[in-house]
Amino acid sequence: MSSNSTLSVDNKAVELAVKEGTIGPSVIDISKLYGQTGMFTYDPGFTSTAACESKITYIDGDKGILLYRGYPIDQLAEHGDFLETCYLLLYGELPTAAQKADFDYRVTRHTMVHDQMNRFFTGFRRDAHPMAIMVGCVGALSAFYHDSTDISDPHQRMIASMRMIAKMPTLAAMAYKYSIGQPFVHPQNDLDYTSNFLRMCFAVPAEEYKVNPVLARALDRIFILHADHEQNASTSTVRLAGSSGANPFACIAAGIACLWGPAHGGANEAALKMLEEIGTPDRIPEYIAKAKDKNDPFRLMGFGHRVYKNYDPRARIMQKTTHEVLNELGIKDDPLLDVAVELEQIALKDEYFVEKKLYPNIDFYSGITLKAMGFPTSMFTVLFALARTVGWIAQWSEMIEDPSQRIGRPRQLYTGAPLRPYIQETLRA
Ligand code: SDX
Repeated sequence: MSSNSTLSVDNKAVELAVKEGTIGPSVIDISKLYGQTGMFTYDPGFTSTAACESKITYIDGDKGILLYRGYPIDQLAEHGDFLETCYLLLYGELPTAAQKADFDYRVTRHTMVHDQMNRFFTGFRRDAHPMAIMVGCVGALSAFYHDSTDISDPHQRMIASMRMIAKMPTLAAMAYKYSIGQPFVHPQNDLDYTSNFLRMCFAVPAEEYKVNPVLARALDRIFILHADHEQNASTSTVRLAGSSGANPFACIAAGIACLWGPAHGGANEAALKMLEEIGTPDRIPEYIAKAKDKNDPFRLMGFGHRVYKNYDPRARIMQKTTHEVLNELGIKDDPLLDVAVELEQIALKDEYFVEKKLYPNIDFYSGITLKAMGFPTSMFTVLFALARTVGWIAQWSEMIEDPSQRIGRPRQLYTGAPLRPYIQETLRA
């Protein structure tokens, strides 16, 4: 449904259509504003800008609500598995038993990577950050799969999508194995998606590896929590890259690069490093003061969010999963968890955080859980990228299939030098 709004520019009334969504804020369609007024809108960081129409994920930041295709995240995390969430995000509906079995089968049979990918790894230093390796290797997939880079062909788009969902765990495990000098472990088709990933990360040729079902279930739930999140920075990167017609592998590599930033997906790694730096609860006040100090660039990593001005619903589920994993592993008193729980309690009572509506986000507890599972800090954002791949792909597909889709090309407010003539070098001051 739509109505109209009127904008007055230089005493001239400009009619702008208002479009309503299913739920959430309506939008003012400004696509014709420049033609009608000769002016652009200005919104650095896109705090008030809807860049697209989407049916995939809905967030209510004030109420702390997250829906994937209308289903609440806590119900999906509680009752389903990650590949069910992948199917839902890609196709818009929960799968029947037959559809789920077929989807699992198709994903499982794309988990191997071309054997020549191994040579990419030997080109990296052993101490290369695994996110650097992932950006390189995922982008390189387009060099191997020319048969699924024609984005105008729905069948090729589907094959490329399945390949990326299936191969991300394999590449992520390879990046981890390479960093610790252990041989790569091939996928095993009789294991479920997340158990397969755990085995590829932690199995060694010298002995049998038995997947811990509690840890596999916990990690699968963590993947569900990270699967999609509306038009966040990395998803917007994937959409913008895709709008030029770039192949899907290159677009996902661009998303991985953007996710790596500490203000975004890199916050899980930064949050754990922060907890380690704080070390003990008695040092928390010192760091709270640093976070509040305008002259100190330090921020409480894992806190705050552009959209959530309430508790991130994923953080609550993450916190519960953290306790499950620590209990399963018999870790009774994790000093990092003690610091995290105390830090959260202090911050949530501090007027600075209350006034600015800064709550723990998904990255605050994830690091403690992943570290307890045996992942090094450098792998945390890789796991985030693994899980977010399906969200990037679903959003990319939605954009490609949108008949109104065109290349994204924002404008600017220019405040540089006006037109001026060239000055010969000898005449310059
Ligand atoms: C993710 O967008 C998504 O959906 C992302 C994500 C996803 O699933 O894709 O949810 C994943 O990226 C989660 C966020 C992970 N990042 C961090 O935990 C890093 C720490 N958080 C901040 O850097 C910050 O909160 C952001 C980047 C998350 C949000 O930044 P905004 O919306 O641009 O907010 P802001 O930086 O303008 O902060 C508003 C105010 C500022 O103070 P004032 O200038 O108004 O006085 O709050 C302060 C900030 O200084 N502030 C913090 C803070 N976060 C914001 N102060 C201390 N510690 C913090 N963590």
